[in-house]
Amino acid sequence: MTELTTVIHDASEIVVGPGTDTPLERYENAAIAVTDGRVAAIGPIEEIIDEYPAENATHAIDASGQSVIPGFVDSHTHGLFAGDRSDEFAAKLGGERYQEILAEGGGILRTVSAVREASDDELLANLLPHLDTMCAHGTTTVEIKSGYGLDTETELRMLDVIRQADEQHPIDIVPTFMGAHAVPEDEDAESYTDRVIDEQLPAVAEQGIAEFCDVFCEEDVFSVEQSRRVLEAGMEHGLTPKVHAEEFVRLGGAQLAAEMGAASADHLLHANADDRAALAEAGVTPVLLPGTAFSLGADYADARAFLDEGGSVAVATDFNPNCHSQSMGFAIALACVGMEMTPAEALVAGTHGGARALDRAGEAGTLREGMPADVAIVDAPSHIHIPYNFGVNTVETVLKDGEPVHG
Ligand code: NIG
Ligand code: FE
Repeated sequence: MTELTTVIHDASEIVVGPGTDTPLERYENAAIAVTDGRVAAIGPIEEIIDEYPAENATHAIDASGQSVIPGFVDSHTHGLFAGDRSDEFAAKLGGERYQEILAEGGGILRTVSAVREASDDELLANLLPHLDTMCAHGTTTVEIKSGYGLDTETELRMLDVIRQADEQHPIDIVPTFMGAHAVPEDEDAESYTDRVIDEQLPAVAEQGIAEFCDVFCEEDVFSVEQSRRVLEAGMEHGLTPKVHAEEFVRLGGAQLAAEMGAASADHLLHANADDRAALAEAGVTPVLLPGTAFSLGADYADARAFLDEGGSVAVATDFNPNCHSQSMGFAIALACVGMEMTPAEALVAGTHGGARALDRAGEAGTLREGMPADVAIVDAPSHIHIPYNFGVNTVETVLKDGEPVHG
């Protein structure tokens, strides 16, 4: 028996996803009907409401004056951590550099100490409220990386906490193994790379939680060759590659991502035209993280070049102790103002683009018929208000599989 889960009616606007010849396919004065958690029909209200009367639905939502969009797909976070690095934010404002802080044992390495000391319950108790905040800001799918353990036991614990959170929280979590996130203190990159490959990866594969394998390919972190070795080993264990590429310097991570057919190459602040062409050719999704550039005071990635050359990008928060924002709305505002994306481009990048970066384009990020009804309802008449009303959460209601989970 088909259940009419939800009808959202009288919306000022409903965004479907990217259009074929428009940046955004959208309907005005529209409705959406959800059966068994999936989009059954979407379009102008008069085409929907006779077949799917709101009064027959378990949840009838009057969205007058509001914009209905696909839930955000936040495709790059390090959202599971412990400790507080707000003092580093202040120090960076005073002129200290991220790499100096890391070289002195701060940054990622400081979070590693805090995570190793935290119990599983404490880690879970840290993560769940962040998921609540993400959800309240319209995110319905989020990727979370390990990488604050840097030893087998803690990397496995992080992935298991991510699994527990996924079970307990309505947001879908996509787990990524990132043992190669930094080189532990008192170890050199080459021998640690061996340990990631020989000790961590087999245990992670055996545990069976992680879907992607990511690496911080960066000067003074992991070289291109070390990154390649980690990602190749990950692929042998069934993990799809992702690469932190060209964040502080142009080292070659984007070309590596293209060569390996990675799902995404992320950051890309220093990517050049050759890198953009290689990624586009290989079908690797560039994931742009304007919040990171904002909080580092760095120049933004050249989103316009990616888009004007015909590529498509994802925009994500990069929520982590160095970039402390769970808000996709804020990332979209920065994408518009800092990276000159249009509101429509930024919205597509934060929904469909994110889904592509997570190999989920058929399951998330658009509101086409048959897709899960993961929806954010913006309390304003158009999606333009998301970046226009910067610094404010415009999302009022969130549905996951058609069920209200916020608002
Ligand atoms: O994507 N660049 C490396 N990793 C993170 C930062 C993690 C941290 O500083 O704790 C990033 O920005
Ligand atoms: Fe990252």
